[in-house]
Amino acid sequence: MKSLVAYFSAEAGTTRKVAENLAADVSADIFEISPVTPYSEADLKWTNPIARCNREKLGRKDIPIARKIQNWEDYDTVYLGFPIWYYGAPNVIFTFCKDYNWAEKKIYIFATSGGSGIGKTAEKLAPFVKGGKIMDARRVTAAEDLSDWK
Ligand SMILES: Cc1cc2nc3c(=O)[nH]c(=O)nc-3n(C[C@H](O)[C@H](O)[C@H](O)COP(=O)(O)O)c2cc1C
Repeated sequence: MKSLVAYFSAEAGTTRKVAENLAADVSADIFEISPVTPYSEADLKWTNPIARCNREKLGRKDIPIARKIQNWEDYDTVYLGFPIWYYGAPNVIFTFCKDYNWAEKKIYIFATSGGSGIGKTAEKLAPFVKGGKIMDARRVTAAEDLSDWK
């Protein structure tokens, strides 16, 4: 069986870098969770009340994702990475989780942030990965913070 690193990164590629290094470290395939409509800089300006990120957050909107993983059944372990948005996972991560069958998957969650901890991020995602087992969830600054996941 194989492992997959699935990640979303929007602002500065911080999560992408961790995801790429982790994928190399654990010999996993890698998949970027890309919204159909990518986020512009203006979309991410959370100081603007009507910016896209704030509208999506308030509306609890699903965010359509550009591509679907074709060989999902090949993976027994999924490392799921994203930036912390509003103290939790971005909406697109909930959409991603809803799109797949998580039965029998081992799930490792990692997140980058401006400073917030992982908080209740994993607990809030749990209902959307039914049948899967969340092994760990961690806020990181680099893939080295995950060296015990190998
Ligand atoms: C809409 C939005 C909400 C955010 N909310 C938080 C937050 O609640 N706590 C925090 O520490 N950082 C927050 N951040 C900062 C990001 O988590 C941080 O910059 C992250 O490392 C960006 O990763 P990326 O470059 O892969 O997108 C937020 C950023 C955005 C754009």
